[in-house]
Amino acid sequence: MQLLLAVLALPLASAQLNELAQKAGKLYFGTATDNEDIGFQNKTYLQILNDTKEFGQLTPSNGQKWFAVEPELGVFNYSYGDVVADIATANKQILRCHNLVWHSQLAPWGYGISYLEQRKPHRRSHRPRNQRSQTLVQPMLRLGRGQRSPQRRRDLSQRHLPPSPRPEYIRIAFRAAAAADPHAKLYYNDYNIESPNNKSAAVRALVRDLKKEGIRIDGVGLQSHFTAGSAPSIDNLIWTMEGYTKLGVEVALTELDIRIMEPETSSNLAQQSSDYKNAVGACMLVDGCVGVTVWDFWDPVSWVPGVFTGMGSACLWFGNFTKHPAYQGVVEALTNDTRRGFGGGGGHNGGWW
Ligand code: XIL
Repeated sequence: MQLLLAVLALPLASAQLNELAQKAGKLYFGTATDNEDIGFQNKTYLQILNDTKEFGQLTPSNGQKWFAVEPELGVFNYSYGDVVADIATANKQILRCHNLVWHSQLAPWGYGISYLEQRKPHRRSHRPRNQRSQTLVQPMLRLGRGQRSPQRRRDLSQRHLPPSPRPEYIRIAFRAAAAADPHAKLYYNDYNIESPNNKSAAVRALVRDLKKEGIRIDGVGLQSHFTAGSAPSIDNLIWTMEGYTKLGVEVALTELDIRIMEPETSSNLAQQSSDYKNAVGACMLVDGCVGVTVWDFWDPVSWVPGVFTGMGSACLWFGNFTKHPAYQGVVEALTNDTRRGFGGGGGHNGGWW
């Protein structure tokens, strides 16, 4: 009997994230990765990246952004993003493309209204379909200071595109992507749309409008770049995700990371663990949530310290490749503990189950 128990306990102790996510009925647990980062010179990093028990899905962090794929007008260079796409293909990992358009990291040259329509043949001809390949369309809405409802970002809709009549770049992007690949899942992906607020309401309205107009949208990606201690509660996450899925789209956590104020302490790492557990747990409890992607998994390659002063340690692996306590938090969310012991954020009222 004792022996049997020990044998049963073993696989659980070493179970890994993608393995557990799939066992629980999700499509994948994945990570973003960037071949220009030092991770790619590190054997241990590559081993973890290639371990399909850990990660069943990859997203190129930067290599498919507009600045990378069309550095000069009409000159296409897919090699940066293809390194990641090729790894995913070789490992049979799902590829989530990232991204067709957003307000940042745009082409360095100017561009105009018909860019996306003109360029779609290149997109179509270039990438072979990679299992459930997902093109991520990432136009942004922005909630400015003092604004009651979000505006389309000026960057794209006003600065770069001709003013009148103003083209609807969101619609152009979705239409072009649908024409380029009828099989790819098309996502609207954004940040600060993980909680009940004006911005998530605007995204629901956008999804409704696109559907009404017959424009295909398959999913909403919740980026989920959170700060330990002020991440959304599991209730708010579930409520928000279900607000999207009720409209007939799937959802995913697409860029999950949870930063802490340096230095690391046992208390901020514990908070981080509970916040990771809530985020992944929310996905587990929403049928339409297909999977979770972390925005890289190793602290030294995280984008966080470069962008948020004084903050870091946002990933699941420390610099020395030991795991954050949050790794265990994620494991608990992916296993049966999901319905127990959630705390943090706005507090859990038990009303979801
Ligand atoms: C980040 C990359 O991780 C960085 O390497 C790059 O310098 C800036 O972009 N939301 C997104 C991602 O959708 O594309 C961003 O990725 C992180 C914020």
